[in-house]
Amino acid sequence: MEKGSMDKSNGLRVILFPLPLQGCINPMIQLAKILHSRGFSITVIHTRFNAPKASNHPLFTFLQIEDGLSETETRTHDVTLLLTLLNRGSESPFRDCLTKLLQSADSETGEEKQRICCLIDDSGWILTQPIAQSLNLPRLVLTNYNVSFFRNHFVLPQLRREMYRHLQDSEKDDLVQEFLPLRKKDVLQIIDKETEVLDSYLDMMLETTKASSGLILMSCEELDQDSLSQAREDFQVPIFTIGPSHCYFPGSSSSLFTVDETCIPWLDKQEDKSVIYVSFGSIVTISESEFMEIAWGLRNCDQPFLWVVRVGSAVHGTEWMDAIPKKFIDWLHEKGKIVNWAPQQDVLKHRAVGGFLTHNGWNSTVESVFEGVPMICLPFVWDQLLNARFVSDVWMVGLHLEGRIQRNVIEEAIRRLFSETEGKAIRERMEILKENVGRSVKPKGSAYRSLQHLIDYITSF
Ligand code: UDX
Repeated sequence: MEKGSMDKSNGLRVILFPLPLQGCINPMIQLAKILHSRGFSITVIHTRFNAPKASNHPLFTFLQIEDGLSETETRTHDVTLLLTLLNRGSESPFRDCLTKLLQSADSETGEEKQRICCLIDDSGWILTQPIAQSLNLPRLVLTNYNVSFFRNHFVLPQLRREMYRHLQDSEKDDLVQEFLPLRKKDVLQIIDKETEVLDSYLDMMLETTKASSGLILMSCEELDQDSLSQAREDFQVPIFTIGPSHCYFPGSSSSLFTVDETCIPWLDKQEDKSVIYVSFGSIVTISESEFMEIAWGLRNCDQPFLWVVRVGSAVHGTEWMDAIPKKFIDWLHEKGKIVNWAPQQDVLKHRAVGGFLTHNGWNSTVESVFEGVPMICLPFVWDQLLNARFVSDVWMVGLHLEGRIQRNVIEEAIRRLFSETEGKAIRERMEILKENVGRSVKPKGSAYRSLQHLIDYITSF
């Protein structure tokens, strides 16, 4: 049984439809646990690709639909292409599945009768709004971005067209007024890999969000109050900021990868706040030379390290990973531990972890803040660039590598983060931010109240 769940149903059912990416499945399943604990029954519709493990959540109903992806397409690293294909291939199966669910709920009688009150799905599902609308079902949008990125990223196509093709070197560190606190070089990195295909996708996402019944974010006023007020004006729909969703039900059980738990006993043997944890989430891939620079940087610094290297996907070319000389791995293991996939939330909570070298996916960023772990930012794509700027420039709870994946730069950043001077100031600021965010999810806190409003809102449909 999900921890903290209530036995008593409130007679209402919520349909959830996560995008099949780890960074989207985690918050959606967390939201499912929260809603279930408040008496809602849960149905999760999911694609065949990256299907969540239903057996981990016996109290939820899981329904699989076809997504139309070929075997080759499931292996693409192009997220925009993947999302476009998923939206195309899932449309008709999703419509059929939702229609059947509503029809069978209508035909139920007696005490078992439940009302389906709404659909909650990711902002990246642009197919769902017209379908929900045609079936008279309110739809709420969940986004796994921070508020500021979500409200501003619709301007990216315009930035690509207007200004960033011929940027002078002297301008690269300038702030982007339309997208603070990004710098122009960050925008260059974001749009570098994006094509025109994205433009129409973003237009649709904006349109379908505005047409929805509300927006749910895993953030809180304490993290970005200004953007929140602006987002309320932009979208003109109710906005709920429920805080870091993982904090209500700690411990991740929605992992698509096999979790290597051996890192916890290894951490138990390390000194307090001595370990640098390294992970770049579920999507980022690095090159062979980048792997080697990080390896040398970690081996040369004074701290023990725990490094997540997703076998077969973290480094371009599986064969190369298999070909790393065992001697080199043994040499790395003298100073640290490498795992395929870690129980990240438990790792960040562990007393031995003192820093996080991260790609700044939004989940990783808020999980780190929630546990008060200072960061070294190495963002690669998309919202990660903005999250990293918040960490280094706004909250000032981490250092930024500015994209330099070089052994001496990494080694120096780790030394600075753990130092008694600069590192201490960062740790103190992180402690304050952690307390503020922690308070927001406690009763009377801003995120806690927003969650209550969300529950009341859904119940009112
Ligand atoms: C994606 C995008 O890349 C990111 O930019 C966006 O903000 C969210 O969606 P991802 O790259 O996977 O996500 O990163 P992140 O948002 O950090 O999510 C990763 C999740 O996997 C976190 O919840 C983290 O706790 C979990 N994780 C990661 C593990 O449980 N174990 C690991 O070893 C690594």
